[in-house]
Amino acid sequence: MSDRPEHPAYPVGLRLTGRRVVVLGGGTVAQRRLPALLAAGADVLLIAPSATPSVEAMAEAGELRWERRAYRPGDLDGAWYAVVATDDPEANAAASAEAEERRVWCVRSDDAEAATAWTPATGRSEGVTVAVLTGRDPRRSAAVRDAVVEGLRDGTLAAPRHRTRGAGVALVGGGPGDPDLITVRGRRLLAEADVVIADRLGPRDLLDELPPHVEVIDAAKIPYGRAMAQEAINDALVERAKAGKFVVRLKGGDPFVFGRGMEEAQALAEAGIPVTVVPGISSSISVPGAAGIPVTHRGVAHEFTVVSGHVAPDDPRSLVDWEALARLRGTLVMLMAVERIGAIARVLVEHGRDPGTPVAVVQEGTMAAQRRVDATLATVAEAVEAQDVRPPAVIVVGEVVGVGPAAPAAR
Ligand SMILES: C[S@@+](CC[C@H](N)C(=O)[O-])C[C@H]1O[C@@H](n2cnc3c(N)ncnc32)[C@H](O)[C@@H]1O
Repeated sequence: MSDRPEHPAYPVGLRLTGRRVVVLGGGTVAQRRLPALLAAGADVLLIAPSATPSVEAMAEAGELRWERRAYRPGDLDGAWYAVVATDDPEANAAASAEAEERRVWCVRSDDAEAATAWTPATGRSEGVTVAVLTGRDPRRSAAVRDAVVEGLRDGTLAAPRHRTRGAGVALVGGGPGDPDLITVRGRRLLAEADVVIADRLGPRDLLDELPPHVEVIDAAKIPYGRAMAQEAINDALVERAKAGKFVVRLKGGDPFVFGRGMEEAQALAEAGIPVTVVPGISSSISVPGAAGIPVTHRGVAHEFTVVSGHVAPDDPRSLVDWEALARLRGTLVMLMAVERIGAIARVLVEHGRDPGTPVAVVQEGTMAAQRRVDATLATVAEAVEAQDVRPPAVIVVGEVVGVGPAAPAAR
């Protein structure tokens, strides 16, 4: 125990670029501390007889220098900062005594009381570093850190920038529908929007959270018709951005997977409006996954093909080579195919795919109403009709349908 009075630690941001930091011990503590030290540009010397595979990988990649041995007095020569985290208490005590003598700030994994520095719980979000110290309650530090970082990321913690976001458009992939499945960046941009133009699919619940001054435009695209034509959407994007607004175009899944995202980006580029594209989690992978179906599985399927079933196979406008798809052995994932599944299944079987191939239809994946209907290529049309399956649904064809633990038997 220290005989010094209990004062709070003095917080400071160390600028470590090019400065020697000595890390003693190559275990999990080092593994957790090293990435931030390396990100800060420190000249890291690791001294440890052994290290975890990830620490080894950092050394192999040349990110730090590693001397494979135990601590020796004198190791802190030239150091500005030391992390003492070996599993030998005597070595830790000796190293921290050396640090004290050399006036090197030193954190100790085994004895916070004896340390001259404490590592705060840290997090980063868009250029802001959050560092929290709570004395001797690291869980509380982590909880406070998480709350602040999450608030900054999702925009619920109001921390206005001095530099306000200029006019422009962000094409944001909103994910398959569950509001937790949008990216952190997408969510933050949504919180900064003046105008949001949203699709029918995607995380519509998030629209309720927008403040009243945000203009929300519904670009709902209903199958076989359009509540708002694509041109009208493009015009609305251009017009609002030209009026000086920051517009988020919130799309279902990923903007560039059957999402007409590039058409919108092109229209904006032609109008000279800056566009940011934020990728999203596509329903083509996440909806099967949410229903317990991996699109690939070792030894079962080493390929997956994502196809639009928007146009019937015998329609001359179809750009899909269904005959070639019928010859593939891997997984076939179909979007917008519910209404044409009978014709599609027929073509696949006619051209060689086994009629007994398992098929799963997942309706409203990741949402409260999610349901999965299992069938085979021979029976899927009948099953879809009998069970009144409606869009939006993703249809998965292939042996992967049966690999999950909870997969019901094919009907
Ligand atoms: C116009 S496409 C857009 C795809 C989107 N860009 C993506 O990456 O997921 C719409 C189709 O995606 C599929 N889809 C999107 N969200 C879905 C969901 N939550 N559940 C099932 N299918 C979904 C359906 O096949 C739907 O007809």
